[in-house]
Amino acid sequence: MLEVDAVIAKRLSSDVALINQIAGYIVHAGGKRMRPKLVLLFANALGYDKPGRFELAAVVEFIHTATLLHDDVVDESSLRRGKKTANALFGNAASVLVGDFLYSRAFQMMVSVNRMRVLDVLAEATNVIAEGEVLQLMNMHDPDITVESYLRVIRYKTAKLFEASARLGAVLAEAGPEVEEACAGYGRALGTAFQLIDDVLDYEGDSAALGKNVGDDLREGKTTLPLLIAMERGTPEQKALLRHAIEHGELEKLSEIVEIVRATGALEATREAARAEANLAKDCLKLLPANQWRESLLEFAAQSVERSF
Ligand code: IPE
Ligand code: IPE
Ligand code: MG
Ligand code: MG
Repeated sequence: MLEVDAVIAKRLSSDVALINQIAGYIVHAGGKRMRPKLVLLFANALGYDKPGRFELAAVVEFIHTATLLHDDVVDESSLRRGKKTANALFGNAASVLVGDFLYSRAFQMMVSVNRMRVLDVLAEATNVIAEGEVLQLMNMHDPDITVESYLRVIRYKTAKLFEASARLGAVLAEAGPEVEEACAGYGRALGTAFQLIDDVLDYEGDSAALGKNVGDDLREGKTTLPLLIAMERGTPEQKALLRHAIEHGELEKLSEIVEIVRATGALEATREAARAEANLAKDCLKLLPANQWRESLLEFAAQSVERSF
């Protein structure tokens, strides 16, 4: 990961001062760096040890960071990685444009590894992420969306980049199609588990630990799984309150809503769904050689569902 940091620092630079300032601001705020870790773990697990893996690990982090810059504008969020969001500090226009810079820099970098399959995987992933964010926009303030529709959004907007990151490790190592699909399957399931937990933490997390505001999903009228389950299980009065909150994005009722979501067992049920996905992810690892990297991937899956930040 130190090598990845070195690539990130080197590739972040631009002659345009505001780009350095904003891109540096968000990248140096840290983050968990889960996607680059996946690239490295899978490349290592499959025996690929050339520097190309550091370049691609930095690429997926740049793509991720670009989506965060855009997402915080769309979601009107004010806190990210424990700091003010770039949109709060520098404005929406600058955030969107620097997001575009990071996207296009990522494409310059991925060309440098000189493999068509890499371009294929990442072009597909960025396109699907955009579809996911737009699908979610269409679902906004709609309490009648189905669980399937919710799952499609999270697979597109979040799981897809985890899937691509894992798959890239296999592509670099020139693994056979069966192993590549197993790696992709791990990433997809892990990414789904990860977003399910993210949606739980939006209700019961701690803003200081998370580095993001809690209650943002409700404020935006996002019908996430905790709310879908609570509406299914709640009394008619509770259901009416939740529907109204989704339709109007009422944050004043947050504590009452958290109470309903908790009392109906919806948070625990969502955690359970995340654990099931994490177990699916672990199953995919059976096709990998037994080594320390595979052990780390097993642990990584377990950690991502027990996390509190
Ligand atoms: C945030 O991702 C966006 C989601 C998909 C929930 P991360 O939680 O991985 O963000 P950082 O990089 O650690 O800040
Ligand atoms: C983030 O989704 C997904 C992408 C950035 C594509 P969210 O909007 O749910 O994540 P946070 O809570 O802002 O990190
Ligand atoms: Mg957001
Ligand atoms: Mg969002």
